Amino acid sequence: SRTQIAIVGAGPAGLLLSHLLALAGIDSVAVDVRGRREIEQTQRAGILEQDSVDLLVDSGVSDRVHRDGYRHDGIELAFGGGGHRIDFHGLVGASTQLYPQTDVFIDLADARQRDGGDVRFGVTDVSVGDLTTDSPVLRFTDADGTAHEIRADFLVGADGSRSLCRHEVPADRRNQYFREYPFAWFGILAQAPPSAPELIYNHSPRGFALISQRTETLQRMYFQCDPAENIDDWSDDRIWTELQARVGANGYTLAQGPITAKSVLPFRSFVQDPMHYGRLILAGDAAHTVPPTGAKGLNLALADVRVLAEELERALAAGSLAPLATYGERALRRVWKAQHFSYWMTTMLHTLPGATPFDLRRQEGELASVTDSAAGSTFLAEAYTGWPERR
Ligand code: DHB
Repeated sequence: SRTQIAIVGAGPAGLLLSHLLALAGIDSVAVDVRGRREIEQTQRAGILEQDSVDLLVDSGVSDRVHRDGYRHDGIELAFGGGGHRIDFHGLVGASTQLYPQTDVFIDLADARQRDGGDVRFGVTDVSVGDLTTDSPVLRFTDADGTAHEIRADFLVGADGSRSLCRHEVPADRRNQYFREYPFAWFGILAQAPPSAPELIYNHSPRGFALISQRTETLQRMYFQCDPAENIDDWSDDRIWTELQARVGANGYTLAQGPITAKSVLPFRSFVQDPMHYGRLILAGDAAHTVPPTGAKGLNLALADVRVLAEELERALAAGSLAPLATYGERALRRVWKAQHFSYWMTTMLHTLPGATPFDLRRQEGELASVTDSAAGSTFLAEAYTGWPERR
């Protein structure tokens, strides 16, 4: 069979692309090796930039992000014995929305179902081919065991940080940029009331901690740990003692409760450039991964897709590949700014193994250069709330 755009990956990037293309009258098929429940139950980040919220609402995905999300007009940077608020709204007139990625996914999957979109979860044996011909192909076996071969005008690899599509680009046709970090995050969900009205990014001599939220009764928190940390070594008591010690250094006390989820999240920076090869185009984490500090990953994926939908519409109308390169140039400008921001937040707030007292005091000086200065705070506020799309 045939479609206009075949999409590998039905996470937020693949589903939003399918939705935006449908609005432009363009057909697509999206497939994912994961089941819908499995994706819904994987804990991911929780902060949307204002433009991400507007995109979901204005394109008719859902307005649940306003009803069930929480608007945050700033964050706390905690270091050197106290908290310092960055007032996003006062500094740049923008805010962010606390709304989990799992809910963004649910809204998108529901919208595609509502609108009759062709989305297949739980497929196997996914492969792509004929990328440099006019008729590239997506092959997969659906959940009922039926094998399919779908020809398309373009293929999109929106298949996440462990992308298969990324590796279809020959090594001499792309650059891959990597950075590893010598730490990870231990993430928890806890049944407790919020400990503060906004997020706390907490620097301490014992390492970084992030106090985030989900609802009035469920909280999300992270603390810096060794990448090889074993979850089974961490009882609830030990976790609370460590978190309380880290935020206590800056005068905070956390409301505690039963911990319902524990996981270790890896840290990595990655970019693949260019973001297309032949008629295959990459979007979201398949093309770039950022460390989680600053919550840019999902927002970057949505921003990619907004631009990609426009450029695919042009490519189809003109019968030309030129818009694919334009997509990459537009997307990568934002990607590298987000790489810098995520790297900067990470290195400013985390303790490197072997850090000396000098290193810790220097970080406090760096943090104070942000919080004591309108210029410094505005830089952070602009990046955190998201850069407006430039043409
Ligand atoms: C969350 C995750 C982040 O990486 C971040 O910077 C802020 C919030 C979260 O999961 O809530």
